[in-house]
Amino acid sequence: MAGGAQLLVSMLGELGTVTDEPGRLTRTFLSPAMERAVKLVGSWMQDAGMDVRVDKLGNLIGRLASDNPAAKTLLLGSHLDTVRDAGRFDGPLGVLLPINVLYELNRRGVKLPFHVEVLGFSEEEGIRFASAYLGSEGYTGRLQESTLALRDADGITVRQALEQFGGPFSPPKPAQAGRNLLGYVEVHIEQGPVLEAKKLAVGVVSAIAGQSRFKLTWTGTAGHAGTTPMMLRKDALAGAAEFALAAEKLAQGTAGLVATIGSLTVSPGAANVIPGQVVHTLDVRHAKDNVRKAALVKLGRLAGQIAKKRGLKVAWQRTQDNGAVNCSPKLTALLERSVKAVQGKSLSLVSGAGHDGVVMSQLTSVAMLFVRCRDGLSHHPDEYASPKDLAVALDVVIDFIERLAKETTAIR
Ligand code: HGY
Ligand code: MN
Ligand code: MN
Repeated sequence: MAGGAQLLVSMLGELGTVTDEPGRLTRTFLSPAMERAVKLVGSWMQDAGMDVRVDKLGNLIGRLASDNPAAKTLLLGSHLDTVRDAGRFDGPLGVLLPINVLYELNRRGVKLPFHVEVLGFSEEEGIRFASAYLGSEGYTGRLQESTLALRDADGITVRQALEQFGGPFSPPKPAQAGRNLLGYVEVHIEQGPVLEAKKLAVGVVSAIAGQSRFKLTWTGTAGHAGTTPMMLRKDALAGAAEFALAAEKLAQGTAGLVATIGSLTVSPGAANVIPGQVVHTLDVRHAKDNVRKAALVKLGRLAGQIAKKRGLKVAWQRTQDNGAVNCSPKLTALLERSVKAVQGKSLSLVSGAGHDGVVMSQLTSVAMLFVRCRDGLSHHPDEYASPKDLAVALDVVIDFIERLAKETTAIR
């Protein structure tokens, strides 16, 4: 057993103070706080004996080479960015836990027959540019030109942000499939209630739900709040609000479907002016792609009907679209053996949250370990995983790596 999770807990706490917004944890793509976080986690990687580099996307990459140059590479990681007013586990746990695993293996004098790369992706949440996975898409060479053209709240494009960060930018070529990789393992809090309900510290992920994200722009006519009769209004906010309730109703009536409007801006945004324009996000997810796609068709139709009825215009901009991803049965089965060895039993669950594993599954086999989080709460400052559960997760990943090492040596 590892010496417990005290060090991991303190590292999560320290990293959790590195923020762009005093008083709450917010760390977004290529921000000053992200730069400080990369330096801090990079130093912890060096303490594990890793060579550390930062790629053109701002991804932090630690590499512990095996003595055998021809060896394959095992990837472990997650993201270092956060949502606004975030908890300290979502993302960083999947970067700091593998570093602590390497501390323990080093302490035991374990020499691995494969290289290990720990990845701290620069952007997974999609907060600054409304498009998620910029880090892992860059790492795997899957950044689309359309993504590079997306603009943040200050009108800066992804491409401009990358050029400000690292000079002239050309999208990295797709990393050759396989790239002699053993696979990618991501440890993440469950961000849901299942493990807690089942009284389990950890579980394995069978699949990650597909998700579509959009920006909708409703355009009506701004006008005087006092003199414009209700029947003559083209109120953009009323239209967006009717759509929000319709989207909620559709999701409530479709098993497994979730639809969320997470951010909304009203202009001109004055108390005595009828809203002329509203821009809001829409996030729609389901474990089955056909259900998600059918829901999007219905939502498109609903928006059109509402706009027509109210004399508004509605425009959609897709900012992200990822199909559901199945985790690798082989790698997951190996991880499951470690869960059973440490916890006595395992549980397999679908992830409603998106993860870098979605993108990494296009490069290599993916397995995910979920860790119980209190009340299933996440994307919230009270997000919490107990030191006891973190110690179980540490022991599972140590056991997994030792099994993989035995398997790899056996194959040679
Ligand atoms: O939004 C998500 O599913 C993840 O937390 N990025
Ligand atoms: Mn998240
Ligand atoms: Mn996450």
